[in-house]
Amino acid sequence: MKTLFIALLLVALATCHSHHSHDHDHGHDNDHDHGQDSDHNHGHDNDHNHGHDSDHDHSHDNDHDHGHEHGHDHDHEHGHDHDHNSDHTHDHDHGHDHKHGRGHSNKHSHDYGHDAAGEPVVRTASGEFRGGYNVTRYGRRFETYRGIRYAEPPVGELRFQPPKLILEYKSPVDATEDGPACPLPAPPDYPVSEDCLTINVYTPLKKDRKEPLPVILFIHAGGFYSMTGRSDLAGPHYLLDKDLVLVTINYRIGSLGFLSTGDELAPGNNGFKDQVAALKWVQRNIAGFGGDPRRVTVAGCSAGSISVALHMISPMSKGLFHRGISMSGSPIFISPTPDNMYRLAVKQAELLNCPTNNSKVIIDCLKTKPWRELGDSLPGFYEFGFDPVLIWEPVIEKDFGQERFLTMNPADAIKQGKMHAVPYIVSQTRDEFFWMAFTVLRNQTLLDRMNAEWESVAPISFTLPRTPDARRVSRALRSAYLRDRPLRDDAESARALGLLYQDSIESFPVHRLVNLMCRHSPHPVWYYEFAYIGNHSHYEDPVTNKPTGAAHHDDLIYLFTLSYRFPAVERAGADARRADTMTALWHNFAAHGDPNYGDLPELEGVKWPAVLPDKRSYLRIDKELSVQTNLKEDRIRIWEELYPLAY
Ligand SMILES: *[C@@H]1O[C@H](CO)[C@@H](O)[C@H](O)[C@H]1NC(C)=O
Ligand SMILES: *[C@@H]1O[C@H](CO)[C@@H](O)[C@H](O)[C@H]1NC(C)=O
Ligand SMILES: *[C@@H]1O[C@H](CO)[C@@H](O)[C@H](O)[C@H]1NC(C)=O
Ligand SMILES: *[C@@H]1O[C@H](CO)[C@@H](O)[C@H](O)[C@H]1NC(C)=O
Repeated sequence: MKTLFIALLLVALATCHSHHSHDHDHGHDNDHDHGQDSDHNHGHDNDHNHGHDSDHDHSHDNDHDHGHEHGHDHDHEHGHDHDHNSDHTHDHDHGHDHKHGRGHSNKHSHDYGHDAAGEPVVRTASGEFRGGYNVTRYGRRFETYRGIRYAEPPVGELRFQPPKLILEYKSPVDATEDGPACPLPAPPDYPVSEDCLTINVYTPLKKDRKEPLPVILFIHAGGFYSMTGRSDLAGPHYLLDKDLVLVTINYRIGSLGFLSTGDELAPGNNGFKDQVAALKWVQRNIAGFGGDPRRVTVAGCSAGSISVALHMISPMSKGLFHRGISMSGSPIFISPTPDNMYRLAVKQAELLNCPTNNSKVIIDCLKTKPWRELGDSLPGFYEFGFDPVLIWEPVIEKDFGQERFLTMNPADAIKQGKMHAVPYIVSQTRDEFFWMAFTVLRNQTLLDRMNAEWESVAPISFTLPRTPDARRVSRALRSAYLRDRPLRDDAESARALGLLYQDSIESFPVHRLVNLMCRHSPHPVWYYEFAYIGNHSHYEDPVTNKPTGAAHHDDLIYLFTLSYRFPAVERAGADARRADTMTALWHNFAAHGDPNYGDLPELEGVKWPAVLPDKRSYLRIDKELSVQTNLKEDRIRIWEELYPLAY
C-alpha cells in the first residue's frame, strides 16, 4: 500500500505522512485553533532562532500533538510580532542583522563559495534582498534568493481573500532559505504554513550578467492540492547552467486556494490570482536580479500547465509574460468549466465538522479552523481510490465587481481570439497516468467495485461530465479500451486501463489545447512528446524499482533537481544528455521565442516544426530526437466522437 501511495506523485508529499494525518484528526484540540489570526510571525524569514523556541506559542507552526518531536525544526516562530495588518508596507525584517543563526551556512563555505564579500544583496524599487549562493550541475556558481513573500500572508481575515501584492519592504529581506509549503498533507518535519506566498529567484553571479537575462517563472504541479515551488521540488541546479533567471513560486492550493461558492463571498480562483501577483512582482522587481521584464516565460507542469494556458486567457495576466510552456496539463477538460465548486465547499465543511446551511455559514466556520486541518483533509475528497485526480479546478467567475481571473469558457476564449497568446510550447509524456491502473488492479476492493459498478465509477476515474449521458459514454469507453472484458490484475488489463487513464486525464485535453491554439493563436505552437525513460521515473515498479514508462512529470526530472525524491542527474550519460536537451530548449525558447533559434546543437540536427492544423508535427524526445505527426490520434478519435469540439 505504501508503495502504491508513493507512486501517486500528485500527493507525493502526502505519502510518508498518510498515517500521521489520521493522527491529527483525532488529536487536535482547540488550543491550536486560534493562533493564526493573531500571530503571523513572518516566521521563515526569521526562523533562525532555533533553540529559542521555548516561548513559542502553538500558532501556525507544525506543532501538533507530536509537536515536541519536531518543534524547532521548522519553527516559524521567533517572537517578532509584526503587525502587518496595520500597514501595507512590510516590516518583514528580521530586525537583527544577518549574522544571527546563519552559522550553519558557514560550514558550507567551501562547497558554495561564500567569500569575504559575504552574501549577495539585491536592491529593487520594492526593497533589499539578501541571498546566498549555490552551484549548478556543471559547477557554475549562482545567486539564490529564496522565501521572499510576494503577497501579504493570507491568514486571518485574509484567508479565502484574493492576494495583496507587497509593494514595499521596509527593511532588508532575509532571502537565504525556502519558505514553507502551502498547507497540504506532509510529513511532520516538513515546513508547511498558511503563510506561504513566497517566491524564489535564482540568477547567475552578478559578474556573469552582462545584459538583462530571459526570465522563466515556473508554476509547480500537484493537481491544485499538493506540491510546492520550494527548492527540493523545483531545484535550479540544471537550468542555472544557462544564462537565465529562474523564478519559482508557491500559490495557495486546495480549499485555501480554490474555494468557490459561486457568490461574492468566494467567487474563486484565488490560487490563480496568487500566480498573477507573482507575475506582477516579477515585473516590478526582476530587473534588480538581472532579469529582463520584457522576456518572461511562464512555464508549468500539470496543474501549472493548466495555469499557463489560463494566463493567456485571463484579463488579469495580460502583458505580464511573453512566452508560455505547458507540460502535461490543459484547461480544455472533458467537462465544461463550472462557475462554482459549491459541492466541494460543502464537502470541505463536512470534513471539518462545519455546518453547511449556506455559503456564509460554511466560510465563517472554515475561517476558524486551523490551516493544518484544511491541508490534511485532502484524502477526504477522493471518491474512488485516489480518483478523481483533479478535484479543484478553475471557475468562470460571476461578476460581483471583483477583479476576475476567468470570465469565460477557455475553449470559447481561444476560438474567439479573446486571449493574449504568446509563442507556446505544449507537451505530454508518452505514458502519463498509465500507472493509475495499478492503484485499482492491485486493490481487490477497488477492482471488484470498478468491475461491478463501471458506469458509476468511470465518470469519477476518467473525469467525465456527470450528466445522464455519462452511462452511455462509460459503456462506449469500456468497449473501445477494454473490449468489454472484465478487468483483472494482469498485464492486458493494466495496459488497457492505463491507456484509458492516460487519455482521459491528459492526452485528450492536451490534444484539444494544441489543436485550438494552433488554429487561433497568431503565434507558433510547438508540441513535444516526452518518451525518454531514464534511470528514474515518477512511477517505478514496486518489485524491480525500475521505471516502466515515461510517466506524468518525468520531463521535470531533466529540468529541475527534485531532491525530495531523486538523486541529481550527473554530467555524463544518457540522462545527462536529456537534461542538456531540456535545459537548452527552455533557455533558447525563453531567450528568443523559438526553441530552434540559431541551430541549437542540443537539437541534434533535428528541426522542430510548429504544429499546423493540417500537419500536426511534434518532437519526440526519446533516446533520440525525431519529428513525428498526429500524436496519439488513433485513440483520440474515440474521444472526439464522444465529445465533439468544433475547433
Ligand atoms: C544548494 O543546493 C543543494 C541541493 O538542493 C542544497 O542541499 C543546499 O542546501 C544548497 N546550498 C545552499 C547554501 O543553499
Ligand atoms: C443550520 O440549519 C439547521 C437546521 O435547519 C439549524 O438548526 C441550525 O441552527 C443552522 N445553523 C446555522 C449556523 O445557521
Ligand atoms: C484498497 O482501497 C480501499 C479504498 O480506497 C482502501 O480503503 C484500502 O485500504 C485499499 N487496500 C489496500 C490493501 O491498499
Ligand atoms: C544511471 O545512474 C548510474 C549511477 O549513478 C550512472 O552511472 C548512469 O550513467 C545513469 N544512467 C543514465 C542513463 O544516465
